[in-house]
Amino acid sequence: MSKNINSLEQYKIEYAKSIENPEAFWEKKAEQFSWHKKWDKVLSWDFTKPELSWFEAGKLNITENCLDRHLKNKGDQTAIKWIANNPNEQSRCFSYKELHVEVCRFSNVLKGNGAKKGDRICLYMPMVPELAIAVLACARIGAIHSVVFAGFSAKSLSDRINDADCTILITADGGFRGEKITPLKDISDEAMDSTPSIKKCIVLERTKSKITMKSERDVWWHKEMQKANSNFSAEIMDSEDPLFILYTSGSTGKPKGIQHTTAGYMVYTEYSFRNVFQYSEGDIYWCTADIGWITGHSYIVYGPLLAGATTIMFEGVPTYPDAGRFWQIIEENKVSIFYTAPTAIRALEAKGMEFVNPYDLSSLKVLGTVGEPINEDAWHWYDKEIGKGNCPIVDTWWQTETGGIMISNLAGVTPSKPSFATLPLAGIQPCLVDEKGKEIEGNNVEGRLCIKFPWPSMARTIYGNHKRFKATYFSNFENNYFTGDGALRDENGMYRITGRVDDVIIVSGHNLGTAEIESAMDEHYNVCETAIVGYAHPIKGNGVYAFVICHSKPNNEQALRKEINALVQKNVGAIAKADKIQFVSGLPKTRSGKIMRRILRKIAAGESDDLGDISTLLDPSVVNEIKISAQ
Ligand code: WTA
Repeated sequence: MSKNINSLEQYKIEYAKSIENPEAFWEKKAEQFSWHKKWDKVLSWDFTKPELSWFEAGKLNITENCLDRHLKNKGDQTAIKWIANNPNEQSRCFSYKELHVEVCRFSNVLKGNGAKKGDRICLYMPMVPELAIAVLACARIGAIHSVVFAGFSAKSLSDRINDADCTILITADGGFRGEKITPLKDISDEAMDSTPSIKKCIVLERTKSKITMKSERDVWWHKEMQKANSNFSAEIMDSEDPLFILYTSGSTGKPKGIQHTTAGYMVYTEYSFRNVFQYSEGDIYWCTADIGWITGHSYIVYGPLLAGATTIMFEGVPTYPDAGRFWQIIEENKVSIFYTAPTAIRALEAKGMEFVNPYDLSSLKVLGTVGEPINEDAWHWYDKEIGKGNCPIVDTWWQTETGGIMISNLAGVTPSKPSFATLPLAGIQPCLVDEKGKEIEGNNVEGRLCIKFPWPSMARTIYGNHKRFKATYFSNFENNYFTGDGALRDENGMYRITGRVDDVIIVSGHNLGTAEIESAMDEHYNVCETAIVGYAHPIKGNGVYAFVICHSKPNNEQALRKEINALVQKNVGAIAKADKIQFVSGLPKTRSGKIMRRILRKIAAGESDDLGDISTLLDPSVVNEIKISAQ
C-alpha cells in the first residue's frame, strides 16, 4: 500500500495534485488493489443527470481485496477481534485466514439457499462477527447487502425489505445490548408477514431465546455452515456493480435506499481510513459504531480490512455494566485508534471521572468523532481526559451518501480546531453556496455546503428512485452535490459544520426524518396533526420536540404521550421517540398552509421572545397559545 500523507506540506501538494488532475490522482490509488481486469476510463460524470462512473469496465471483487490479498503476508494477523456485551464472555478473534474461510463458507450457504448475483439480501443482526461475515459473503457472491440497524421496528424492517425486494433475510434469535435482549427473530417474523419477496430466512443462534422456525422458509446459520464447503471463488464484478444499499432518513416519510457501487467505494474507504487515522502496521483500531450505519460499513468492515488492519467489533453499549466499559476495553486491548460519536462522549463525560480514572489509556494515539457536530466542551474533555493531551482528535464530517470521510483533519498531520471538521481530504472539493446557488468565495463566510466535483465513493442513486436522487441532491444548486448541511469557513479556510438545513434531525448521531416521526404519530386515532422539530439536548445533541393537535381534548395527557410514543417505537424505532410532546390547538402556518418550523424551533429552544416577523401567519394568535404552554 502507498504511504500515508505525513506532513502539512505534503497534504498541500497532494491536494493541489488531486484538483489539477483528479483522474491521475485516483488512478494511482486504484493501482494498488487486485483487479481481474484494469479499467478503461477512470471517470465519466454528469451531475445534471446525475451519472457517474469510476474505473469503468474494471473487474474485481472487493472481498478479494479485503481478504485474499492479505493472506500471504498477514494470514495469521487478527482481522476482527470481537468483544461481547457481557464482560465475562470470551472475546473471539478471527485472523485474516480464518475470516476468509468463514466468508467462503457463508458464501456457499447463501448460494445453497438460492442467492444469486444482483439479489438483495437484508441483514437484521446484532453486532456479532457473523454480521461482518454475512456482509462480506454477500459481496463475495455479488449480492447487494442491505443492513438494517437492529434497533428498528418490524414495520421499518418490512418497509426496507419491500423497497428493495430482498429475497433473503439474515437475522438472529436475539441480540444482547446492555441489560436487554432484543427479540430479533420475533420482530423479523412480524416483518415477514408482509414481505412477499423473502424466500429464506437464515437465523443465527446468539441468545438462545425461544423462537419459532417456519419450515421451508427458516434455516439455522450453524446447521447450514456445518454442511458448507470452505472454498468459494469470488464472483467477478464490474467496478460499477452495486455493492450495497443503506437506508437513511429524508425529508419525506419514506427512507432513501442509498446505493453504493464497488470499485470507487473500495478505493476511497481504504484511502480515507489510512490517511485520516494515520493508520500504521500494528495499530489496534476500534470504531464503536454499529454496522447498521454507514460508519460501521466503511470504518469497521471495509476500510480497515482493505488496509489490512485489526478492527475491533463491540456488541454492547458504553454504559454496561458501567460507564467505564469503553475505557476498560481500550486498556485490555491496547487500542491505539479510537473512533466514536459525540453523543457517547457527552454521556460518558456526564458520568464522571471515576469511570475513567481506573484505566490505563496510554495505548491511545489517535481519537476520532463522527455523526454530528462536537461541541467545544466535549472536545476538550475528550482531549484532556481520554487523550491526556497527547492524541490528535479527528473530527470527521461525512454522510451515508458520501460513503467515506470528506472533511477532517489528518491525525497529527494537518491542524485541528475544536468543533471544526477543518479541511477537505485530498480529492474532495467542497464549496459554500448562497440560497440561489451562487458560490460564496473567500474566507470567513457561511452558506450551504455542496461538493462540486465527484469523488469515488459517492452514492450513485437511491434504489429504485433515481428521480428522487436527482431531486434531493442535484437539483437545488446547479452542478453541485448538495449535502443538506450548513457550514462556515473560517479565516484559514477551515470548515465548521453548523447542522442540517433540511427536515432531518440528528439525535444521538442518528438521522431522523421529521416526516417519518410525524406520520407515525398521526396514526393515533386522537391525533389530528403533528409538527416535529429538534431542540438542543445536552447529551443527545438534539432532542425530538413534538407539537400535537388532537381531535378531542385528551383526558389524560401523560397517558396519551405514552401511546403516541409507543406508535413511534412501533413504526420507526425507539430512537425516534419524542422527548417532549406539547398538545396545541393549532400550528403556525403560512397562508399557503406550510408549517413555519422556524417559529416552532424557537419555541422548543425556549427562545420564544424572539420569534421574528409572524405577521405572515394565517392565524398569529396560535403562537401565543403555544408559547404559554411550552414545556
Ligand atoms: C452530520 C454519518 C458535524 C451531518 C457518517 C451529516 C456531522 C449527517 C459530522 C450525516 C461531523 C456527520 N460534524 N456534523 N463530524 N459527521 N455529521 O448519513 O449533518 O448518518 O449530513 O452519516 O451527520 O449522517 P449519516
